Amino acid sequence: MEVVIVPDAQAGGELIAEAMAALLRRKPHALLGVATGSTPLPVYEALTTKVRSGAVDASRARICQLDEYVGLPADHPESYRSVVLREVVEPLGLSEASFMGPDGTAGDVQAACDDYDSALAAAGGVDLQLLGIGTDGHIGFNEPCSSLASRTRIKTLTEQTRVDNARFFGGDIDQVPHHVITQGIGTILDARHLVLLATGAGKAEAVAASVEGPVSALVPASALQLHPHATVVVDEAAASELKLADYFRATYAAKPAWQGL
Ligand code: PGA
Repeated sequence: MEVVIVPDAQAGGELIAEAMAALLRRKPHALLGVATGSTPLPVYEALTTKVRSGAVDASRARICQLDEYVGLPADHPESYRSVVLREVVEPLGLSEASFMGPDGTAGDVQAACDDYDSALAAAGGVDLQLLGIGTDGHIGFNEPCSSLASRTRIKTLTEQTRVDNARFFGGDIDQVPHHVITQGIGTILDARHLVLLATGAGKAEAVAASVEGPVSALVPASALQLHPHATVVVDEAAASELKLADYFRATYAAKPAWQGL
């Protein structure tokens, strides 16, 4: 996989937004898989700036969700549907019709998961999937020991993830749902390009285990090693545990500009 070390979160956001813009110039109706959490926000801000300045036309872009809480009403401000509409779909000037996600309120959760996998395939598959990484190495909400072949399904969050996400629920862990629907690791690996962004020292250990450790279900993000086109963008703090950091820096510095991410 390619590892790009950037000075800070903003530079990472700009780099990934430019990769998305380049994709949309090549393929205006591209399906962009987006992630929630704090880390990807600089990507959405940079892409929105490009759209508003006319640097890229995103009017035909399609957006899809990675995961969703089970049981939160769709219009709850912290449902991932609401978050993606607020942070991505609306700023880009897109309509809800351009957006797809799993139904976290469905009575038959497994049917909703299967429907979502089918919908992604029917849409032609995800062109670029943006990922964050949990402090425990999760991608989407595939917690440690998720099957590397998993498809979209229900998962139970670890205590650590619920602690990490309590900040979105007024700091009250009791408000964080226990269950989620997440694209499986196998589903995520179906995307044509995976781009993982990690910033801050709190992610350094998970990043090193994912990039330089063995492929293991214990570290779900290590599955990116199995993908032919995976890019890991990290700031200096998140890169601080990488043994090959100097090699990654030299490789990226010598990369031909036309190649993009
Ligand atoms: P964060 O979440 O960007 O808010 O740290 C990442 C994740 O849990 O995937």
